[in-house]
Amino acid sequence: MNGRSHAAAPIPSATAGALEGLPPLRVVGRLARLRERLEEAGVDAAVFFEPANVRWLTGFTGSNGTVVVRRSGEALLLTDARYSEQAPAQLAAAGCSGDVDVAVARRTVEAAAPWLQGAARLGLEDGVAWGQQIRWNEAVAAETVPLSEIVESLRAVKDGAELARIEAAASIADTALASVVPMLRPGATESHLQQALDGAIRSAGAAGPAYDTIVASGPNAALPHATPTDRRLEPGDLVIIDVGAQVDGYRSDMTRTFVLGDPSERAAALLEAVERSQAAGAAAVEPGVEAGEIDKACRAVIDDAGMGDAFVHGTGHGVGLDIHELPRVASGSAATLEPGNVLTVEPGVYFPGFGGVRVEDLLVVTDSGCRPLTLHPKTSLVPLPA
Ligand code: GLY
Ligand code: MN
Ligand code: MN
Repeated sequence: MNGRSHAAAPIPSATAGALEGLPPLRVVGRLARLRERLEEAGVDAAVFFEPANVRWLTGFTGSNGTVVVRRSGEALLLTDARYSEQAPAQLAAAGCSGDVDVAVARRTVEAAAPWLQGAARLGLEDGVAWGQQIRWNEAVAAETVPLSEIVESLRAVKDGAELARIEAAASIADTALASVVPMLRPGATESHLQQALDGAIRSAGAAGPAYDTIVASGPNAALPHATPTDRRLEPGDLVIIDVGAQVDGYRSDMTRTFVLGDPSERAAALLEAVERSQAAGAAAVEPGVEAGEIDKACRAVIDDAGMGDAFVHGTGHGVGLDIHELPRVASGSAATLEPGNVLTVEPGVYFPGFGGVRVEDLLVVTDSGCRPLTLHPKTSLVPLPA
């Protein structure tokens, strides 16, 4: 074919490549598990509006969706006219159109009220806005009670189709990072590297980055959640790159820290301590372990290295439809890990004016231990160009 051909080319789909061969996402059985939780909470019905919870329960991805579930079993998805075609189609694709009715309405609370008649105790997700809570109270004439992390705790255990998407996202981030490592040289700017990573993520078939990609070099690496700047990399810099991809709504999360050229003694000590801490945390991940124990394992290594005060954030978090979800991996976290949990282990140390180091892997808990999903090598020394 020559360059002047005008034959119609297929329009590439943002995620088609990444989704090829993955099992379909099905929500079947989730409402039944939710109903058990509603019984435990002692509510007659409950309202869910957090987008990731609505998506997990029904497959619906529109920007306006509210799911109302009665303890007796019926469920209703309320949305607006923009989604009158999309909502039933997505529910059917997710396998729940027989269990969840769709109502298209301009005023969600008022449309749900007749359907909720007789529900004396109505549970609302505890992120509900003050004004909304009052409206539910007035329109449904029920006692409203806060429900905390009910769907979120169910979402913490991933099924095979969810895991396949997170794994695909992690693999795409591995590939994107590998493609950008050769660009880590003096003179490159943080923001240029960020753009290159984001472009590589999309080219590899992901819908986009899982969160704002971090590239933080030199003193900027002392900021755990830095925003990339136009700073140019310099020899000897520590460079933190925190990169994830998103496939069909599911996310990945990974951090590597690089050094340009020979590390100073101080930089080498930071890298050594954090890499050992991360390995100790990952080695502690298995079913039956409390998440707080992972934090303890990571912190012990950093404390021994005399850097405890510089480890200023939690050790990790669950990842799925949201980038930060359950289980929390922090001091005192009592969540017991179970097969299907997907979580990060990401110790870091930060020294204002000097820089920092963070190493983050995404792991899935298996029946006997765990398996890393982020596989990019931890080796962080980048030789300077000759
Ligand atoms: N990339 C966000 C985080 O690691 O929490
Ligand atoms: Mn993370
Ligand atoms: Mn991260």
